Formats: sequence, C-alpha cells, structure tokens
Amino acid sequence: TERTLVLVKPDGVRRGLSGEILRRIEAKGYVLAAVELRTATPELLAQHYAEHQGKPFYEPLVEFMLSGPILAVVAEGQGAVAGFRSLAGATDPTAAAPGTIRGDLGRDWGLKVQQNLVHGSDSQESAAREIGLWFPGV
Ligand code: GTP
Ligand code: MG
Repeated sequence: TERTLVLVKPDGVRRGLSGEILRRIEAKGYVLAAVELRTATPELLAQHYAEHQGKPFYEPLVEFMLSGPILAVVAEGQGAVAGFRSLAGATDPTAAAPGTIRGDLGRDWGLKVQQNLVHGSDSQESAAREIGLWFPGV
C-alpha cells in the first residue's frame, strides 16, 4: 500500500494538536504504520528540505523546525500521498479551506506562514525518500 510521511511540526505539538491531527488521519481510513516523537537536527532538515535550500524562507523554516519536538508519522492507505495533502489544505493557513487541518486549526497568528502545523510528502518519490530519512529501517 501507498505510504506518506506526515510531520506534526513544532507548533502543532506545542499547541497540543497531535492527537487531533492523528485522529483526522485515522478517521479518513489511513493506518498509522509508525509514529515517533523526535527532535530534528540541522543535518536531517537539510536533507528533508533540500529542494528549499537557498530560498529566502529556508533559514527561518529550519530554525522553526528545530524549536521543539516533531511528531513523525508514516500513514498508509490507498492514495495516501495526495489524500493527506488534501486533508492538510493549502500551505498558508490563512488561505486554507475550512474542513482541512490548516484551515480549521490555523496557526500561531502573528507568526509566520511556516507555522502551518503539518508536513505531508508531495509525491510517492518524496514519500519514499522522506520515510527513509525519518524512519531508517521502516
Ligand atoms: P509541506 O507539507 O510542509 O512541505 O508544505 P507544502 O508542500 O505545502 O509547502 P512547501 O514544500 O512549498 O514549503 C515547505 C514549508 O516551507 C511550508 O510548509 C512552510 O512551512 C514553509 N514555507 C513555504 N513557503 C513559504 C514562504 O513563502 N514563506 C515562509 N516563511 N515559509 C514558507
Ligand atoms: Mg512540501
């Protein structure tokens, strides 16, 4: 079955939304194949966000992702990659539709767009690569 990597980013863990986000993933019918609370490292994030290196938001994004623990999740099920992106909603929580994680749960207002609660792999290739980074051995 298809797998995707979901991260509950530090803002989501800090705000106590981990359970709500896992609930939505399970309610949709995906199986939680792995769940682990982890603190990222600069090395891991450099690989995870390789495509964004050099962009203006890269440094603040990494700093934010190092600001607290992250809940790393492998979710499994038919169409899980696109399906979780659809559950998450648009990147900017101010624009994300109601009914989505980012649309319903918002962010720490006044802070930046990177505080958007979750990450979801954007393709099956990205998912395989990212699962290898966050869960070596799964
Ligand atoms: P992810 O699932 O987290 O990868 O989100 P995404 O695929 O919707 O966004 P993308 O991969 O383009 O960007 C990765 C992350 O960088 C986003 O989730 C945001 O946290 C952050 N980000 C993206 N664009 C911007 C931006 O223009 N400004 C800032 N400050 N952060 C951004
Ligand atoms: Mg992305």
